[in-house]
Amino acid sequence: MDGREAVPPTVQADVAVVGGGVVGLGIAWEAARSGRSVVVVDPAPGTGASFAAAGMLAAVSEYHYQEEDLLGLTLESARLWPGFAGSLGAETGYQSTPTLCVAGDAADRQALADLRAVQEAHGLGVRALTVREARSLEPMLAPAIAGAFEISADHQVDPRRLVAAILGRLGEDRIVRRRAQALVWAGGAGDARVVGVLLDDGREVRAGETIVANAIGARDLAGLPVPLPLRPVYGDILRLRVPESLRPLVTATVRGLVRGKPVYLVPREDGTLVIGATQREDGSDAVSAGGVYELLRDAQALVPAVAELELYETTARARPGTPDNAPLLGRVAAGFGPAGAADDGGHVPGLIVATGFFRHGVLLTPAAARICVELLDGRTEERWDAFRPDRFARIPHETHASYGRTA
Ligand code: GLY
Repeated sequence: MDGREAVPPTVQADVAVVGGGVVGLGIAWEAARSGRSVVVVDPAPGTGASFAAAGMLAAVSEYHYQEEDLLGLTLESARLWPGFAGSLGAETGYQSTPTLCVAGDAADRQALADLRAVQEAHGLGVRALTVREARSLEPMLAPAIAGAFEISADHQVDPRRLVAAILGRLGEDRIVRRRAQALVWAGGAGDARVVGVLLDDGREVRAGETIVANAIGARDLAGLPVPLPLRPVYGDILRLRVPESLRPLVTATVRGLVRGKPVYLVPREDGTLVIGATQREDGSDAVSAGGVYELLRDAQALVPAVAELELYETTARARPGTPDNAPLLGRVAAGFGPAGAADDGGHVPGLIVATGFFRHGVLLTPAAARICVELLDGRTEERWDAFRPDRFARIPHETHASYGRTA
């Protein structure tokens, strides 16, 4: 206790979700569907990384060497996506169109072929196409491409429509448009637990369970029992309008490798095209001119008609990166919390972490939501242990953590 007078809670709920991006909203949606009352805390929902995201559901084509644990999670989430999208109706822009991975030159083709061998070893479906086959599927591809691979399992959703759909379903009274400053702890030795969050106007949201799902913003939340090793990995991304005379420019998502650099083109149902994305760790949240130039140059190498489109939006946002590119997802071991405070599973009571989704936030939303609801139900699956949020920290001999406001 800090001796200050208790501030009356603004809202009481079973679950408080800190963060109103796709991950936080997806968790809130599943928690609400499980019969719980839910509050989402975010000053501007859907305006972070979710606003930039292209929405590729790319478990296979975004597989990277030696990320097998992550692959298990991304495949599980890809499997959950049709049901998750179905629970929200047709408003999410979910499309089961395939993905073509296209090589700019012979070296790019070799790199894609090497990756294909590993993807196949993991049982992932990747079909090699000749240039002729690829161009018969997508006639706007450049004749000069060096080859292509078709991945029929990688689909897309529109993250902006997804955010709007979930916000609409939850209802405005479930959204607290303030910044969460700190976790609120209650109880003393032996029964301390997280009971909600302190808002930036001094009020509180009180909840039986608090889920920290505010991406890179989790770095600024006081009172966490364990440090979350998040770093911003900025991406520049472009939105273009395809003139009627060129529609459809492409029907599949096109992921290219052009002189070793990745680029992707994601066609939307409304005739727009998303081209992304750079990966910068330069600390700048402004759109990079060099990044825009490179994206347009490489996209145009694969689909020359890109030069004839209207560029109507450039955006830069930070992805929440982690040391192993995998999320921080689960409960925190009790040893990191106040001495003696533990739930039945040996974790800090009242707290779940769901951040650090890096390049996979949209793809991993249904799995994150499912896992969080299982944790709320008191269930855990051993296979998700690889993502526990305290895996980079050591349990201190004595608790030195400075906790947030207590009540
Ligand atoms: N998953 C796409 C990106 O992060 O750019």
